[in-house]
Amino acid sequence: MKRIAILTSGGDSPAMNAAIRAAAKVAFANGLRVFGIRRGYAGMYLNDIFEMNPRDVSGIIDRGGTFLLTARFPEFKQKEFRERAIKNLKDKGIEALVVIGGDGSYRGANDIFIESGIKVVGLPGTIDNDIAGTDYTIGYDTALNTAVDAISKIRDTATSHERTYLIEVMGRSAGYLALYTCMASGGDGVLIPERGYNIEEIASFINERKLDGKLHSIIVVAEGVGNAIDIAKELESKVSTEIRVTTLGHIQRGGTPSALDRINSTKMGAHAVEKLINGESGIMIGIESNKIVTYPISHAWEYKKDIDEDDYRITMTLAK
Ligand code: ADP
Ligand code: F6P
Repeated sequence: MKRIAILTSGGDSPAMNAAIRAAAKVAFANGLRVFGIRRGYAGMYLNDIFEMNPRDVSGIIDRGGTFLLTARFPEFKQKEFRERAIKNLKDKGIEALVVIGGDGSYRGANDIFIESGIKVVGLPGTIDNDIAGTDYTIGYDTALNTAVDAISKIRDTATSHERTYLIEVMGRSAGYLALYTCMASGGDGVLIPERGYNIEEIASFINERKLDGKLHSIIVVAEGVGNAIDIAKELESKVSTEIRVTTLGHIQRGGTPSALDRINSTKMGAHAVEKLINGESGIMIGIESNKIVTYPISHAWEYKKDIDEDDYRITMTLAK
């Protein structure tokens, strides 16, 4: 194997750059030529592929976002679009591909592997931490810290005004980010799609807290459980406190990556290229119990990562 390419696809996440850097540097160290593909599968299709040199990946370990840019390109689900993209790779002599993204991006990578024989490895890049086969996804830790930091600030004003806050965090259809944001913030409740909620119970919980002399209530709402503004409207007439809603939004996707994100992304990027050099393909890299693991790439969509029941129970117990 002489030439590999790297792309980022789907929503960006902090430390994608650290993963690209590690993958590229390991490839250079092994005498490979390295290509960057801009804007994920859109760039592969449009032939926006450039040869990288070591300078391209210097000074990026601490930069949020992805310097390769990212995109959603639904056309890639159609074979004729993939055929042209694969031709672009083959014309450049690219024999292997590192794909950093979520399970949608992995499906695209798997199609490439099956249809062209080009070797592929997937790295889990999403703040949602919703990919099976790994305890951790690239950018999740930074997003978690951003959300926790934001809640500390909101708590100050929530206390001064004795208000209830619903704080909506990202996660698409997964409650992972919300659950651990609540646990790490000492929040007063968390609503996640995996467990649902009962509006009457939340209302009486908030009212009891008020009667107990608690100055505020902070409820973390995973975006996948419903819109926090709608939930607030439902609650308004049932509670004795004022309610405010804060949607943290894309602030969670940016910023310089945490040390943990940089370390885990570096390890995963480096292992991805080492596995390709050793002839492995059609796999995803994960970290489980602090060890690098691999699974067939299809693991990401064949299995669903569930919420840890103990962690949910503990968070809800401490919220009382
Ligand atoms: P994520 O990778 O974060 O799950 P998406 O689901 O948006 O994000 O997928 C990212 C991109 O991966 C899509 O825009 C598309 O280019 C490609 N993709 C998604 N699903 C498929 C599929 N079933 N087959 C081929 N490519 C896909
Ligand atoms: O998958 C990452 C994520 O940030 C989700 O948490 C969120 O639902 C979605 O992407 C937002 O996507 P967009 O950047 O298109 O608004």
